[in-house]
Amino acid sequence: MENFSLTRSELVQLTADTFIISFNEWIDFEPIQFIMIETETSIVRKPFGLGRWNGKLAIGVQIIGPGTNYIVQQSVLNAHGPCGKGFVPPEGKGAMIATPACLPMALDLHKRCSCDVFIGSLEELSIEIPFPLVVGDEAFLSLLRSLEGYDWFLVIGSDQMEKISYDALKDKAEVFVSFNEYMACGIGACRGCAKETKNGLKHLCIDGPVLRGEEVWS
Ligand code: FES
Repeated sequence: MENFSLTRSELVQLTADTFIISFNEWIDFEPIQFIMIETETSIVRKPFGLGRWNGKLAIGVQIIGPGTNYIVQQSVLNAHGPCGKGFVPPEGKGAMIATPACLPMALDLHKRCSCDVFIGSLEELSIEIPFPLVVGDEAFLSLLRSLEGYDWFLVIGSDQMEKISYDALKDKAEVFVSFNEYMACGIGACRGCAKETKNGLKHLCIDGPVLRGEEVWS
């Protein structure tokens, strides 16, 4: 892990509050690893899953407060990483189910392992994407019910979306969940990401961010 600066190449708006930022620099990373980005609004850096957009390193940002708003405004960002364990897709046919802010991660995982990708959004996107998109809660639940014939799923989104997806998919295949939303320091120093699992206490920034859903939920 190291500190580095990233200069913005492109800012793409997906929804009213969600953007993709691509960068001129490239760093090597493994699937679903993340970086911690500094802001001027807090001493705590913020975590963003690494991915790609148009062949460039990219992150997705949903504006949820001053810190994420700051990140979308800047042309140069200071970051630290890559953090976390890379996700190793199991053998067999897999699918990633994600929210729009995870699109760069989805593009990266799809490129690496040819998994299917489904994006669930609360609103229409302002651009075309190369994956099936469902809009709204009902359409998302219907998508989850329709998914058959997979050996594994990877779910990344909000807490609630991840739990709903796990409950709907757990009897169909192995379900992995990326718990990015729990990060604080991101480097194993604060213990703020500790999560009780069936296999003992795990620190999501070191042992994750991806865990098997069954480790966390019944
Ligand atoms: S986020 Fe600080 S120890 Fe994991």
